[in-house]
Amino acid sequence: MKREISNTHFQEAKTFFPGGVNSPVRAFGSVAGSPLFMVKGKGSQIQDADGNWFIDYCCSWGPLIAGHAHPKVQEAIIGAVENGTSFGTPTVQENDLARLILDNHRFIEKIRFVSSGTEAVMSAIRLARGYTKRDKIVKFEGCYHGHADALLVKAGSGLATLGTSSSLGVPESYAAQTLVLPLNDIAKLEALFESEAKAIAAVIIEPMPANNGLLLQDLSFLKRLRALCTEHGVVLIFDEVISGFRVGFEGASGVYNIAPDLITLGKIIGGGLPVGAYGGKKEIMACIAPEGGVYQAGTLSGNPVAMSAGYAQLSLCLAENFYADLRAKTAYLAEGIQKYSIENNIPFSVQWVCGIFWLVFDKNPQVQNTAQIHEKSSEYFKILYNFLLEEGIYLGPSAYEVGFVSAVHSYEDLDKTIVAFHKSLQKLYNI
Ligand SMILES: Cc1ncc(COP(=O)(O)O)c(C=O)c1O
Repeated sequence: MKREISNTHFQEAKTFFPGGVNSPVRAFGSVAGSPLFMVKGKGSQIQDADGNWFIDYCCSWGPLIAGHAHPKVQEAIIGAVENGTSFGTPTVQENDLARLILDNHRFIEKIRFVSSGTEAVMSAIRLARGYTKRDKIVKFEGCYHGHADALLVKAGSGLATLGTSSSLGVPESYAAQTLVLPLNDIAKLEALFESEAKAIAAVIIEPMPANNGLLLQDLSFLKRLRALCTEHGVVLIFDEVISGFRVGFEGASGVYNIAPDLITLGKIIGGGLPVGAYGGKKEIMACIAPEGGVYQAGTLSGNPVAMSAGYAQLSLCLAENFYADLRAKTAYLAEGIQKYSIENNIPFSVQWVCGIFWLVFDKNPQVQNTAQIHEKSSEYFKILYNFLLEEGIYLGPSAYEVGFVSAVHSYEDLDKTIVAFHKSLQKLYNI
């Protein structure tokens, strides 16, 4: 596979940007080699600067549930741009997208649009603190919620600990406001609530954690979390930046039928343009300025071009059988890949939900917290990743990132991918 042109672009990019990129994981740091510069996307496929085509399972890290350059989304963007790109005033496009969401989502009574998932989460946390007049927040090890200071925190192993930041530049006193728990552990959750509940403003969780592998939680754990938050007046925030509109229109909240107090959204909601949102219970949302005293604003919030793209894409998601078809495709892909490892008795499996899959370098796909992830996962992934690239399959370049299936991946794409996986696994495991 030719990579000369991408390599040249990357050398130049390194003179412009720290590490040559504008978001760290793009640098291919954990799969070696330099990143591919993409020039074009159509449907399920992308093309790099050297002319190589790939079946894409990164899908811009999740936003492109209708694939690249979907005609309806393109049309909406072009139509909006013809009237200008931004006014800094209310526009009817904001109303349209909000109506579409509120009419079809049981757990969002009011919404506020922002420009990224990070901004959505950061604002929801401030809102929860303003609403409860408490300071502490709880997050779970292995969940990523964007790069706001309070959330770049991980715990030492074992018990809930005071957070220490996983990034330089976050004051210790700030990180100490974040408590971290292991996922799927009811006993530790109950113990923390017993000692700290009165100080906790919010618990934030990815209800289908998908940033450190796909760590599907027991429903009993999520239900217990909901009950404890209700009992102690703690705001429960479901971070559905990935799962929102992906595993169903109502995201994981809908699949599990659990009503969080606030939901954060991003990715799919913007149809490939920069949009985030947070929403939920009216009573809590009423605390945001100008209605309430929690300040949050944005020059480009609710941008009409981005709203139009989001509206077009979410309208596609509302088509009959959209999620049933996406789920069937994901199952077909995951089971097709996994068949090979079962037949050849290799320690490899695929964990999946509707539209999301994750490669598990172990026999058991039921990994539910970070401690259960096989220590050699990165090592195996790095080798497999490069074999797959050569076969024309593009995944996000990290063992801990999930893959995304879009509605426009065809069964022919999936069959090609299954064959590519079988060949690559054969080489990886020397069969
Ligand atoms: C669950 C979750 N929350 C928040 C974010 C941050 O979103 P953004 O990258 O749009 O700032 C991400 C990004 O991947 C995410 O996966």
